[in-house]
Amino acid sequence: MIPSAPFPAFRIHDDAQGYRAAIEDVALDDLSPGEVVIRVAHSSINYKDALAGTGQGKILRKPVLVGGIDVAGHVVASTDAKFREGDAVLCTGCGLSETRDGGYAQYARLEAKWTIPLPAGLTLREAMILGTAGFTAALALHRMEQNDQHPDLGPVVVTGATGGVGMLAIDILARAGYAVHAVTGKAAHADFLRGLGATEVIARDALALGTRPLENARWGGAIDNVGDPMLAGLTRHVVPYGNIASCGLAGGPGLATTVMPFIIRGVSLLGIASAGTARPVRDAVWQKLAAQWKPAHLDRICTRHATLAQLPEIFPGMLAGGSFGRTIVDL
Ligand SMILES: NC(=O)c1ccc[n+]([C@@H]2O[C@H](COP(=O)([O-])OP(=O)(O)OC[C@H]3O[C@@H](n4cnc5c(N)ncnc54)[C@H](OP(=O)(O)O)[C@@H]3O)[C@@H](O)[C@H]2O)c1
Repeated sequence: MIPSAPFPAFRIHDDAQGYRAAIEDVALDDLSPGEVVIRVAHSSINYKDALAGTGQGKILRKPVLVGGIDVAGHVVASTDAKFREGDAVLCTGCGLSETRDGGYAQYARLEAKWTIPLPAGLTLREAMILGTAGFTAALALHRMEQNDQHPDLGPVVVTGATGGVGMLAIDILARAGYAVHAVTGKAAHADFLRGLGATEVIARDALALGTRPLENARWGGAIDNVGDPMLAGLTRHVVPYGNIASCGLAGGPGLATTVMPFIIRGVSLLGIASAGTARPVRDAVWQKLAAQWKPAHLDRICTRHATLAQLPEIFPGMLAGGSFGRTIVDL
């Protein structure tokens, strides 16, 4: 049923009075227009949510928006015939918390063209343990395999391994038959990462990536969440015709490297932009996430449940590199 009274939402303002975020009551008509109204079951917390919610990153393109780049719930009303009351659906990225109100509210109004029916094989909760993080990890492997990545090329290295994208990438790669090397700043969690499927865990401060344009080729490919010197270092160590998926910038946005890995070894650097992924690719990736690539350890990867009120205390720790797994937001 469509809500007749205002409901709580975690709203972010970026206007002449400055940056601020708080729980506020909003009405359905306050939300960005869309054909599909859902009662939100869960959202999640991604690095981008922490950037948006604290103002440390320029994520919002509007003066006020409900935060939350992920959302999953049940349809309560739809003017698009493809969706009926009671349908379970999800949406990740697609402008949520950037140009449109997002998932940190009891109700969300979505554009039908970006609303995905919950794939068979996933619950709403599992869909949000995956969320943008899982979609990004799977999109990375999807693009790598489109460019001929395969397990015989050698182990795939995952950086930022204890983060949301990192843990889910490890699990997905292991499911897909890859040996996985996990690079982490939290070496104390090595056993946990092995339990997700990492075949080797490398402490970030023990990682020697060298300085020559080409070093020994030790990895078949890479999923990088860190950027800057880490990403530059990875380019030196990937085997001929291996792929590096550049997903994140937890360590910084720079990239100072040479063309040697590309022109001598044929290494490919693939850009991963989950929020703007085209609908057919989006559908294909979610189908894989619900079936052959469904991570085997989702319950372990979901390390925390949070309420809207807890968001402001969680965001700074995430931006300081303290993440460990995925946080689900329960509405
Ligand atoms: N391209 C896209 O579409 C897309 C989608 C989702 C996320 N992302 C990006 O991917 C990255 C990871 O996102 P997430 O949601 O997984 O974040 P997260 O859960 O906060 O994980 C980030 C991880 O990166 C590592 N890290 C943090 N600070 C670091 C530093 N200064 N140097 C090196 N490593 C550091 C830490 O892992 P360890 O301690 O284990 O090293 C941390 O757990 C972020 O930069 C995010 O913006 C991009």
